[in-house]
Amino acid sequence: MRLATRQFLQTAGLLAAGLLLAACGKKEPPPAPTAAAPASAAAPAPAAKVYVVGTDAAYAPFESQNEKAEIVGFDIDVVKAAAAKAGIEVKFVNTPWEGIFNALGQGDRDMVVSAVTITDERKQTMDFSTPYFDAVQLIAVKENSKIAKFDDLKKLKVGVQTGTTGDEAVTKLLGKTSTSIKRFESTPLALKELESGGVDAVVADNGVVIHYVANNKGAKFKTVADKSFAPEQYGIALKKGNADLLAKVNKGLADIKADGTYDKIFASYFGASPAAAAAPASAASK
Ligand code: ARG
Repeated sequence: MRLATRQFLQTAGLLAAGLLLAACGKKEPPPAPTAAAPASAAAPAPAAKVYVVGTDAAYAPFESQNEKAEIVGFDIDVVKAAAAKAGIEVKFVNTPWEGIFNALGQGDRDMVVSAVTITDERKQTMDFSTPYFDAVQLIAVKENSKIAKFDDLKKLKVGVQTGTTGDEAVTKLLGKTSTSIKRFESTPLALKELESGGVDAVVADNGVVIHYVANNKGAKFKTVADKSFAPEQYGIALKKGNADLLAKVNKGLADIKADGTYDKIFASYFGASPAAAAAPASAASK
């Protein structure tokens, strides 16, 4: 009985509240738990520090400049989304690859996002976020080339971007003192040299090579995969010891991976989910 009475009173009270709200033309306020979430998410906004992110924006589809000279690409979208989750502000500054890690070390850049492969050597001078992308080296050659594997490049002229993992792989194959390695300040410059016949092949990250070949049909290139190339992973580079910012970046990355934002960005550039895209890549390297 008591219960029934209480239920009646509660129901009556709710009805009265509903009528009151309806009369005021106001929407019912959302229940407390959901109201708290947006409030805390919007909270971190004190002295808004803007973190400067360096990127070598000549590396489509990861980072490039559009017609309006805006820096765009997969890396840019990933960092923007992760930063939003982490509650930090970022701005991107085009930074030549050759000086990019010095700029980071000197504090001219707070982060570098530039399809940077996480390597043990680099880890000695900089910190990396958790990996956000899988990559591997891929060879670009002319359509009519007989080159079928990495080893075939031994006695040929090979173009690379200076100081990249592609440069490292080719240097290992041809030798440190080889004069057959042509080093360029950007990967597109190396690929232009391949088009004009100055080199026989270019070795660079698969995503960039595939994108270039697909968007420069006139160059008449094809790609050659080789399973001897070690798997690589991209990370966001930070100045060593910046644990606070690193934690924020990692939290942002984890959040966009967890809520599907990362997959959406991935699909918008590579046309499938990361899992689906990994399959043809590994099949091609057989
Ligand atoms: N992943 C390769 C490396 O870390 C190449 C990166 C080049 N990136 C760029 N934006 N140019 O060495």
